[in-house]
Amino acid sequence: MKIIRTSAAMQKWSRTATSPIVFVPTMGALHEGHMALVQRARKLAGKNGSVVFSIFVNPMQFGPKEDLSRYPRPFKRDATMCKEAGVDVIFHPIPDQIYPDGFSTAVDESSVSTSLCGASRTEHFRGVCTVVLKLFNIVHPDTAVFGLKDYQQCRVLQRMVRDLAVPVKMDFVETVRESDGLALSSRNRYLSPEERLQAPIIRKALLAARAAFRAGESSETSLTNIVLRDIRKATDARPDYISVVNGESLQPVKSAKANDVIAVAIFFGKTRLIDNIRLLHQRLRA
Ligand code: PAJ
Repeated sequence: MKIIRTSAAMQKWSRTATSPIVFVPTMGALHEGHMALVQRARKLAGKNGSVVFSIFVNPMQFGPKEDLSRYPRPFKRDATMCKEAGVDVIFHPIPDQIYPDGFSTAVDESSVSTSLCGASRTEHFRGVCTVVLKLFNIVHPDTAVFGLKDYQQCRVLQRMVRDLAVPVKMDFVETVRESDGLALSSRNRYLSPEERLQAPIIRKALLAARAAFRAGESSETSLTNIVLRDIRKATDARPDYISVVNGESLQPVKSAKANDVIAVAIFFGKTRLIDNIRLLHQRLRA
């Protein structure tokens, strides 16, 4: 496994690599959720293709009050996990490779990114789109793999790729969870033991709402209240948003349909956890 630290070296490698190049962008601090993306990438790359994995904590997607400086950076451990999982190249750029002095260009998706997390983290998706497009320009992947835990991120990037005719296929992987239902996240480590015990209520609440939908309930208010009722059982939980949205546009709906999604962001103390459930569960295609 190669570790590449400059954009020029990465671009040079990509020019000579045999296709397909399958790319997994991350911010590191890896867990089994990230590794599920690698497994999928390995499968898509086959014997002859390559899996490129990037690790870059992207300052542009963090708000001024967010956890950029304390975001974990256990690079050695991450690299060992990548090697064992069959990654061919880790692209781990030094920050000025991505943001050189005087950097002044950004990618703004202005529809799918405005609801849910985009409403409370206004600059977040601008940072995500900008870095992902830049990484695509450096890695030149045929396919890129993303996790559905960040459902809005998948949809925003899919829109960017379509709107700007970016020649990359998008592939999505289901959320990997702990046995108690909590979605794996690099941020789970910030939960106190008590908060960690309470956090699986998020998944239980979403499952209860989906069960109600399947039993005939379609009112957005009722579905939201079902989620809220469960979340309130956790004394340390504070909802940021609970929304029923169209699965593609991510705009709020009044009456839920099968391709809609319930998405939530819940604070436990200072830790903000997100999760979502598709009302009709189907494998997503780009
Ligand atoms: P990061 O949070 O490190 O996540 C990297 C990828 O792992 C994303 O596609 C995310 O959806 C996926 N992922 C995280 N937890 C997962 C889980 N429990 N199950 C399945 N997939 C999971 O998302 C980012 O980084 C950044 O925004 C990035 C796209 C790298 C741009 O900076």
